[in-house]
Amino acid sequence: MIPPLLEATEVDGVMTYDLPINSSSHDFGNGTTNETLAFGEQSVLGPTMRWRSGDDVAISVKNNLEVSTTTHWHGADVPAEDDGGPHSLIKPGGTWVADFPVIQSAATLWYHPHMMGTTAEQAYFGAAGMIIVEDDNPSTQNLPANYGVNDIPVVLQDKEFDDNGELVFEVDADEDGDNNDAITVNGTLDPYAVTASGPVRLRLVNASQARVYEITAEGSPMRQIAGDGGYLQAPVEVDSLILAPGDRAEILVDTSEGTVDLVDGRIGRLIEVVPDTTATVDAVEVPASLATIERFSEDQVVAERTFSLDQVTEDAWAINDNQMDMTRVDESIPQGNLEKWTVSAEVGIHTFHIHQIQFQILSMEGAPPPPELSGWEDNVLVFGGSEVELLVRFSSYKNPETPYMYHCHILDHEDTGMMGQFEVV
Ligand code: C2O
Ligand code: CU
Ligand code: CU
Repeated sequence: MIPPLLEATEVDGVMTYDLPINSSSHDFGNGTTNETLAFGEQSVLGPTMRWRSGDDVAISVKNNLEVSTTTHWHGADVPAEDDGGPHSLIKPGGTWVADFPVIQSAATLWYHPHMMGTTAEQAYFGAAGMIIVEDDNPSTQNLPANYGVNDIPVVLQDKEFDDNGELVFEVDADEDGDNNDAITVNGTLDPYAVTASGPVRLRLVNASQARVYEITAEGSPMRQIAGDGGYLQAPVEVDSLILAPGDRAEILVDTSEGTVDLVDGRIGRLIEVVPDTTATVDAVEVPASLATIERFSEDQVVAERTFSLDQVTEDAWAINDNQMDMTRVDESIPQGNLEKWTVSAEVGIHTFHIHQIQFQILSMEGAPPPPELSGWEDNVLVFGGSEVELLVRFSSYKNPETPYMYHCHILDHEDTGMMGQFEVV
């Protein structure tokens, strides 16, 4: 149940990956074989890609489905034409190649379809995978990093099965989207992972249709070391962790005393982490300080924008009263400026995700963010009746031709209009 690493071939100095998307079939562990979508050789989800900061990568996505799709690198700082948003259509039988330099520091990212109107469905049936970005940051080199042994991917997806064990999918555009009650980790119901004994890094990705998790660890303290966009300044001991759709977090647990359970407040156990005392790993050291994060200063803000996450009708959503329209560019943003974006919602549960950048949270409901949300983020939870302020800066790329997206990552909301487009000029 650990997705394999995808091997790259080096072609003229470019790390080249083959990542076809296929229809497949998979038993999630209930004895029924379900039709799924998957990347590469997987029967569900996709292999984990490992990128090195400073490398050039090229990823070739062949669409072996009977419907069109796109593949988006969520959290990656890439040019708009390589971002895999709804404009980068891959028709059935077609192949799309994204190539770009990896210019960001170490982080856990992920990939998934971003097909206009059917992102929820394609992700729900299993099209999602993890990306690990590595770098040379000397202070983090001895964190647990043996993939599948003490560095474990945990890709969470919510599902609904009928009495025959068949997957049921629907878009539910109510206020909190379709919260399915069966939880899979790495494509498995009620899973366990056998890991080394001692400190274990868990890379959590919420690839669910709509569910927000509130995660605690039983049997070990839990330290968060990274958020969406990479390492925090320092490890933060947390009692619980909120993971909204689209969010990532890297946590450390300790299995020296035995099995550790990750538990969600509403659902119960998500995964059992079982130590194998015979497993060998590289030397592990958890540093007191992980990374230097220079906080943006509000004094340097040169422009402000506001985004209200609006309900249009019972099953349709919008941002600033506009439903997503691929022919309309909603915001035009000068490159390199520091901006303050204020995001609010009247009703429901939402997130606000911005492509291409990592931002900083200035305030949530008027208060500064806690340490675990004071690093780099690309997705933030926004409850109805509340407001968050973000400091954003788009410095890497201009995109006159293809826009980037911002949207709610509750996929039912995204697919029913809660998305907008921006260009960097
Ligand atoms: Cu996870 Cu617009 O993306
Ligand atoms: Cu994204
Ligand atoms: Cu929403």
